[in-house]
Amino acid sequence: MKLLLKEILPIFSQIMNELGIDTKVWEKQIGRSTVVDHGDISFPCHILSRHLRKSPEQISKDIVEGFGNKLSHVAEISNLSGFVNFKAKKNWISEKTSALYKDDRVGIKKLKSTKVVVDYSAPNVAKEMHVGHLRSTVIGDAIVRMLDFQGHQVIRENHIGDWGTPFGMLIEHLIDLGEDLAITELNVGDLDSFYKQARLKFNSDSDFAEKSRKRVVLLQSSDTETLRLWTLLVDESMKYFNEIYQILGVLLTDDDLMGESQYQKLLPMVVERLSENDLLEKSDGADVIFLEGWHNRDGEPLPIIIRKNDGGYNYSTTDLACIIDRVIRKNDGGYNYSTTDLACIIDRVERLDCDTLLYVVGTPQKQHFEMIFQAATKANFIDSNKTATHINFGSVLGKDGKILKSREGNAVKLLDLLNEAISRAKSVIEEKNPEIKGSEREKVARIVGIGAVKYADLSTDRTKDYVFDWERMLSFEGNTAPYLQYAYARISSIFEKWNGQLTSLNNQKIVCQTLEEQKLCRQLLQFSEKFEESINSYSPHTLCNHIFSIASSFATFYENCQIINTNDESTTLSRLAICDLTGRQIELGLDLLGIHAPMRM
Ligand code: ARG
Repeated sequence: MKLLLKEILPIFSQIMNELGIDTKVWEKQIGRSTVVDHGDISFPCHILSRHLRKSPEQISKDIVEGFGNKLSHVAEISNLSGFVNFKAKKNWISEKTSALYKDDRVGIKKLKSTKVVVDYSAPNVAKEMHVGHLRSTVIGDAIVRMLDFQGHQVIRENHIGDWGTPFGMLIEHLIDLGEDLAITELNVGDLDSFYKQARLKFNSDSDFAEKSRKRVVLLQSSDTETLRLWTLLVDESMKYFNEIYQILGVLLTDDDLMGESQYQKLLPMVVERLSENDLLEKSDGADVIFLEGWHNRDGEPLPIIIRKNDGGYNYSTTDLACIIDRVIRKNDGGYNYSTTDLACIIDRVERLDCDTLLYVVGTPQKQHFEMIFQAATKANFIDSNKTATHINFGSVLGKDGKILKSREGNAVKLLDLLNEAISRAKSVIEEKNPEIKGSEREKVARIVGIGAVKYADLSTDRTKDYVFDWERMLSFEGNTAPYLQYAYARISSIFEKWNGQLTSLNNQKIVCQTLEEQKLCRQLLQFSEKFEESINSYSPHTLCNHIFSIASSFATFYENCQIINTNDESTTLSRLAICDLTGRQIELGLDLLGIHAPMRM
């Protein structure tokens, strides 16, 4: 509990000073207690034994004595088995929660704004969006929302895979099918079969393969008709992707599209700047970069291929272009990347700048990004004031522990998956609350179903794999979206029953009487620090876990403490304020994760 630590530290550091202990020795050791019953903050004294030549028990006694009465209004200070424990006092908790109640940002500070690009979702045109893209979309969106709430200027970029050699065969397949039929296939979201058919023909029919190769050349030389067909492919795929974004309720729109195709004109400049920095080398006719520390399985140096021996560029080159672009674009809206403008560009890099570049992409691309960032730093595309971070994530597994597949063994069609979530949620709601009917039921089912899918993803440590499990994610028990949404709905219903005005609670003083109130308020006081912890490590699950702790403490409070029907008006008002603050935090927490909370369910 940071608030409590803030009270403790001045006195604690004075005591340490008197004992002659350097700040470095203790500052990282004093922190949140691991055993909640012992206190809120603890300090393990054994780390001082060597310095003071005393037993931890003795040291802990001395420290408690050192505090004397100095914090008697704030915390109980005790020693146990060589630990000093600080436990916040009831009055202090009441006072701090009352102050928090008045803050409409529930304690979360606005920061000095920085410019952040978040690269997320990034599905590939004419290919089914897979669960990995779902993760990227959901995690990326939560991060965007959290950064935005902190006051940063967040630029969303959807780096769709809309360029490269496969487009030759895709366009030829589109011509073979006829535009109308092709559009129909793409429209119903049958992207995988479209792609597979094209691939099959490419592999088995040499005429088709030859035509496809020629088509790539036409595409690269901006042939009008080829570009028109290419646009058709992109637009039709985007219709499908947008449908998914809309159901998911993510912030991405067409304005955020910044696909690979957008960087093609920058690629020659990448080569130019890399060679200016003496980074390019020839290897088997290709232009490559060799970086320190990278080897393949045979122990040979592993290059980043910038330009292949046929003159073509690839994914890595695009990503380097993308870094330059993210660092320099958007001051005057225009590109002006001719050779003579290089000096000007470098000036802009140093002057304009996106401070932070985030890439929400699966763990399999870890090495790619490490190498790209290393190369970009070496080539001075990013300097030490800027950070580029790969926000990696694990896979979604089926119950069999293997990558999630449809029943037929194909990649899961995301649209089907989301619709199934909604229909399953509908049955759950029907069973739990038959009073909710008609369009309200539809609406709530959507909120609960989609919330469940998103929350299941966000609440596991993103670097780990997780098992996709309908029953668990839709359960009203445990760390799930429905559990949190239900807590919120319960709070809404308390206010519906109460015949007072919410505004009359403004400036309401909160007075904790029972242990349950104290426990809940302790959680409420930690909302902002958990939020910060979560965004600082780009780990939405930290925020999820905390909202879950709030909701669980609320459940115990609700079971044990009368709220409306107390004999004492001031107790009622104080408890209502606690409910209101709880509701606001759950609602905000879910909102920052991109999840709604219905008033009843
Ligand atoms: N389209 C790529 C894929 O599906 C992900 C792109 C991620 N972003 C990037 N800047 N490389 O694997």
